[in-house]
Amino acid sequence: MDTLTCFYFSGTGNTRYIVRYLADRLSEKYDCALYDICSVRNAEEKIASSTLILLAFPTYGSSPPIPMRNFVQKYGGLFRGKRFLIVETQYFYSGDGAASLGRAVQKHGGEIVGAEMFNMPNNLADCKMFPIKNGEEIAPVLERAKKRADKFAAQICRRGRAHKRGFSPLSHGVGYFTQRKYFRKGEKEKRRALKVDASRCVGCGLCAKSCPAENLLLQNKRAKPLGKCVLCYRCVNLCPKQAITLVGSAPPEKQYKGPFIDEKP
Ligand SMILES: Cc1cc2nc3c(=O)[nH]c(=O)nc-3n(C[C@H](O)[C@H](O)[C@H](O)COP(=O)(O)O)c2cc1C
Ligand code: SF4
Ligand code: SF4
Repeated sequence: MDTLTCFYFSGTGNTRYIVRYLADRLSEKYDCALYDICSVRNAEEKIASSTLILLAFPTYGSSPPIPMRNFVQKYGGLFRGKRFLIVETQYFYSGDGAASLGRAVQKHGGEIVGAEMFNMPNNLADCKMFPIKNGEEIAPVLERAKKRADKFAAQICRRGRAHKRGFSPLSHGVGYFTQRKYFRKGEKEKRRALKVDASRCVGCGLCAKSCPAENLLLQNKRAKPLGKCVLCYRCVNLCPKQAITLVGSAPPEKQYKGPFIDEKP
């Protein structure tokens, strides 16, 4: 059986949910293996032995997250001659969210044989503009995403390739000029913007343990950010005291619990 290796980044579970669902659908044709890029070991060997590689990530201002960009940069030398699927998740809009990483893969000589973007629940819990929903409220969104995944997976199983959503020049322009250009300009600043309200923090350490970027340190029984946040929103949504704010101006009133109710991201 051919091997499909999925490398994913997921801050709050949406991307992991889609990747797992897709892998389940693709398992009739492929031997699928899933790896979180923040903890994967021997990625070189895994890339070398793959027939097809799936890269999956959430969009941040029509940009792939920093860890996913770094992954492509680090392992791009091994991409020549390899076939790739790109999967991106978003709340509602990115223009060319999948293609923004796809182009980097192509520059390294990888061939993109399919790309899909999935609308998923919002995780920006400290932005009042975008409502947070959980449990039954997100069921319809997940059902729609699964239907889209079914179609995408069926194409891949049938022909070994699928459509490439968001790869047109129009999507490229829209993604760049409406979001990515401005997001990337302010990205450095945002990495240092995470705030912990010391009057709320009880020093439980959950944020530090869960952060994929090792950006939080427990000091004097309070969490302290180190300025290297990758904007994943995991800690903002996990903190039991709702003490953490990132892009917004106040801690979240409601947190996103993700599509896996009982599991940690
Ligand atoms: C910093 C940040 C920026 C985001 N920007 C966008 C965006 O430009 N467009 C969009 O539709 N969703 C945006 N989102 C929402 C996420 O992409 C979406 O909820 C995604 O499915 C989260 O995936 P995850 O749970 O795997 O981390 C943003 C989320 C974060 C944390
Ligand atoms: S999860 Fe919240 S309460 Fe716990 S250490 Fe982090 S900021 Fe403090
Ligand atoms: S500090 Fe929080 S938002 Fe930033 S990378 Fe770590 S867990 Fe994600």
